[in-house]
Amino acid sequence: MEIRADIIKGDCREELKKLKDDSIDLIFTSPPYADRRKNTYGGIHPDKYVEWFLPISRELLRVLRPTGTFILNIKEKTIDGERHTYVIELILEMRKQGWIWTEEFIWHKKNCYPGKWPNRFRDAWERLLQFNKSKKFNMNQEEVMVPMGDWKEARLRKLSERDKIRDISRVGSGFGKNISKWIGREMAYPTNVLHLATECANRNHSAAFPEALPEWFIKLFTKPGDLVLDPFMGSGTTIRVAQRMQRNAVGIEILPEYCKMVEKQIIPAYNLLFEKKGKYETNRNQ
Ligand SMILES: C[S@@+](CC[C@H](N)C(=O)[O-])C[C@H]1O[C@@H](n2cnc3c(N)ncnc32)[C@H](O)[C@@H]1O
Repeated sequence: MEIRADIIKGDCREELKKLKDDSIDLIFTSPPYADRRKNTYGGIHPDKYVEWFLPISRELLRVLRPTGTFILNIKEKTIDGERHTYVIELILEMRKQGWIWTEEFIWHKKNCYPGKWPNRFRDAWERLLQFNKSKKFNMNQEEVMVPMGDWKEARLRKLSERDKIRDISRVGSGFGKNISKWIGREMAYPTNVLHLATECANRNHSAAFPEALPEWFIKLFTKPGDLVLDPFMGSGTTIRVAQRMQRNAVGIEILPEYCKMVEKQIIPAYNLLFEKKGKYETNRNQ
């Protein structure tokens, strides 16, 4: 299978306009956080964040396939002793744009250093907001199944009569469950909490996420040959992982030094192929 990757040097607010409608299967990205990294690549004031991001999310909505998914890694900053509300405001505004806010995953950073703050504890998790264009999006749940684990021995041994039938949830969630159907199974579906260690020390970027993060979502929401976009590419984690997983990838990055670094890491022949065949078209369009 031909797999292509392309690195676009520039501001995604302009570059996204050049991508085709309904052409991307998965957008996976971590934009600059409000004011967090001022010294490295410029921050956006928290009060201006929504205004800054909405033209970008409008373009992302246009380029995403109706069956595609947008995963946004974002966490609000604490200002004057309280959490800023720009992420919440952004979700509300994106819904007005036409996005469906389907789900929220938690990335638990399991190797955080301990710390001491006067009025809070170590912030050890980040949000991954899932947005879709339609309620019928591609999702390969079997690809991310996990071993049942030891808990099943203790929990399943002592099943109550209630657990053996599909009854109505006692907590009023509206979901019935029949736990006994998991007896004898080795694999189960995961939860929406991902326990992954951070690993940015060796990647020349102060905000790189671990490879396992895009990998999990690429498995869940795409198939080989699909097209993955990261409009805030940074050190190229999404692009490298997508290429390794036989997905086509497009990365946009405003800082030339990161573009140069990523270009060296992806397989050059793929770029050449990409140029020849015409940009931003997936295999399925040819
Ligand atoms: C949080 S970092 C992404 C890190 C990336 N996920 C990784 O694993 O390395 C955000 C990146 O977006 C880039 N950036 C900021 N504004 C941009 C814009 N308007 N267009 C494209 N890239 C931008 C920054 O230079 C930075 O490298």
